[in-house]
Amino acid sequence: MISEKSKQQIIDTARVEDIVGDFVTLKRRGANLQGLCPFHNEKTPSFNVNPARNIYKCFGCGEGGDPISFLMNYEQLSFPDALRYIAKKYGIEIEETAISAEAMQEKQLVDSLYIITEYAKNYYQKQLFDTDAGKSVGLSYFKSRGFREETIRKWGLGITPAKKDGFTKAATDAGYNLELLRQLGLTNKYDSDFFRERVMFTIRNLSGKIIAFAGRTLSKDKKTPKYINSPETDIYVKNKALFGIHFAKKTVRSEDECIMVEGYTDVISLHQAGIENVVASSGTSLTVGQINLIKRYTPNMKILYDGDAAGIKAALRGLDLVLEQDMNVKVVLLPDGEDPDSYLRKSGTAEFKKYIAEQAKDFIFFKTDLLLDEAGNDPVKKAALVQDIVGSIARIPDQIKRSFYTKECARVMDLPEKMLTEEVAKAVHAVLQQRKKEAEREERRRQNLRQNPAHQSQSPPSFTGSFPSAPFSDGFPTEEPFPGEGEMPPYPDAPGGDMPGVSQPTTVRGDTFQEKDIARILVCGGGKTLEKDGKVTVAQFILQEIQDVLDNFDHPLYAKVAKETLQLLVDKKEVNDDFFLRHKDEEIQQFAVNCYSPTYGTMSPGWYEKFEIILNTQKVPEENFKKDSEEGLKRFKLKKVIKMCADNQQRMKELDKGEVKKLIKLLKVQEKLLSMRNALAEELGTVVL
Ligand code: UTP
Ligand code: MN
Repeated sequence: MISEKSKQQIIDTARVEDIVGDFVTLKRRGANLQGLCPFHNEKTPSFNVNPARNIYKCFGCGEGGDPISFLMNYEQLSFPDALRYIAKKYGIEIEETAISAEAMQEKQLVDSLYIITEYAKNYYQKQLFDTDAGKSVGLSYFKSRGFREETIRKWGLGITPAKKDGFTKAATDAGYNLELLRQLGLTNKYDSDFFRERVMFTIRNLSGKIIAFAGRTLSKDKKTPKYINSPETDIYVKNKALFGIHFAKKTVRSEDECIMVEGYTDVISLHQAGIENVVASSGTSLTVGQINLIKRYTPNMKILYDGDAAGIKAALRGLDLVLEQDMNVKVVLLPDGEDPDSYLRKSGTAEFKKYIAEQAKDFIFFKTDLLLDEAGNDPVKKAALVQDIVGSIARIPDQIKRSFYTKECARVMDLPEKMLTEEVAKAVHAVLQQRKKEAEREERRRQNLRQNPAHQSQSPPSFTGSFPSAPFSDGFPTEEPFPGEGEMPPYPDAPGGDMPGVSQPTTVRGDTFQEKDIARILVCGGGKTLEKDGKVTVAQFILQEIQDVLDNFDHPLYAKVAKETLQLLVDKKEVNDDFFLRHKDEEIQQFAVNCYSPTYGTMSPGWYEKFEIILNTQKVPEENFKKDSEEGLKRFKLKKVIKMCADNQQRMKELDKGEVKKLIKLLKVQEKLLSMRNALAEELGTVVL
């Protein structure tokens, strides 16, 4: 393991312009550097490198981070491997610390499993190329399918002999551990081979290591399964594996699209024909783990279905999962009786590409058309169809996309748009309720863990700074608990609710703009002193005001930023932007990077000409941090107070007639809240209706 000291030295040495410059051609632009973004396909550069802050950011696709995250995202290196890369580049000698015997054992186990899978692939390949049976049966089979020799080698194709234990014997003779062969499922409990008389396909992980095999029978016997696969093992987690991802990832990124097919041979055929952004989920329906693998490279998916796929409707149902991950999904139906491999061979590459480009249909519309066809004039079927489509649309986290689909589908289905909008809103509400329940369950589970006496019980950190009294002396009313426990806006789509999407299940509650603002101020100016020559820092000032309500943040990320800052204060550590920009929590780091960047997507076309200017004129509390933090705080409080008012009012409504005492108490609270609200609004110069 890399020692803490080396780690720090490496992090301190790495220059973003050097590391990114290894992969991207950068041109200087003022204080920054610019180039074509390696994370998405573009013709005009929107990828920026900021040497002063040691960060990069693409204003086209939003990727951003520091030198280490660049290596992790672009080269798909693990954290330690990224450190090693940098160390090698700068000639830093790495000091290793001993790792625990247990961790060592685990690492050794995994390493040995990879060594065995590599051996197995070579064995199957040798059988194919170097034995008579292999050549006459296997090689001729692959060639008859149009696979060239280089393709066969690249994809690690092979064959297993007709012997009962040919592989197991060869492997144990070569010194490989029988127990590990069993663990990999290559050898069964009777010590014979799991794969027998099959042509073999090699399954790799993202970084190209071999994790499993699939074997296809050449027998025509209907009782023999066509394909069999390695079982799940320590290195093969089926729902996180995608056949072809290692060879496809580069092109998926540059094409900004991932094509999904069903079969191993489809993937190989398409790659051989030069269509390299193709993967297969190999036999299983798509899982969240697989989608997330793709999502690292592109949000766009095109799924090719065999023309005669009987279960196409069932397959479509599985796609709601993909929508939920905020992916854009298109569907292509191949001509009757064809799978991608057969159709490609029949039509040729150019024709094939043209077909899938022309036939690709947005998933929601594809599904609508398909169901409409089926429903005909049957009103009952049509009602079910509406619910089905509405259910799909509701899973799309992005509100703008949702309303676009709602509109279009209303048109296609010939329904009033308003009606469909209402249905979608209801369905979204149901989805959110469900997620909230899940989140609560998760939270309870975590709380149980925390309260488990086996763990040290931790009281939340708090600090008391010694600084002059804050401008707002009246804090929040203490009679009532802080609101927010369990409520949600009835419809996130209601006008005025600018919900930032529901991609994270926990961001379901309300408007979080004010919280984001607080988090931004803490990141960018937390360490600055509030007044010139003063002692109180922005972070101290803000946290003193809000530390009691940290658990009532609506947005978990902003809560995290605030809590991390509080922890720094408690630990008497310096609050600086570096802490956030280098944070190991990717979400926090990403947020910090974004704080220093103009919001992408909203800039005028020539914005990067003005990059410097924008950075300097942004409301970063460089000089106006006092005003900035005071106002941010007021906006934050105002928002909370308004919500408390509404909640309190609700509570009053729910009181029974006889509960006069309680009513009076609540009325008092309401009075106090209203006067706070008005005072804050006045200070901010806003009108509250
Ligand atoms: P197909 O039956 O369409 O096979 O199964 P294929 O890929 O086109 O193969 P060829 O062209 O006949 O050689 C599609 C995929 O479903 C999985 C495999 O991943 C296969 O590639 N499958 C199919 C299994 O896992 N087991 C089976 O028994 C059949
Ligand atoms: Mn096929």
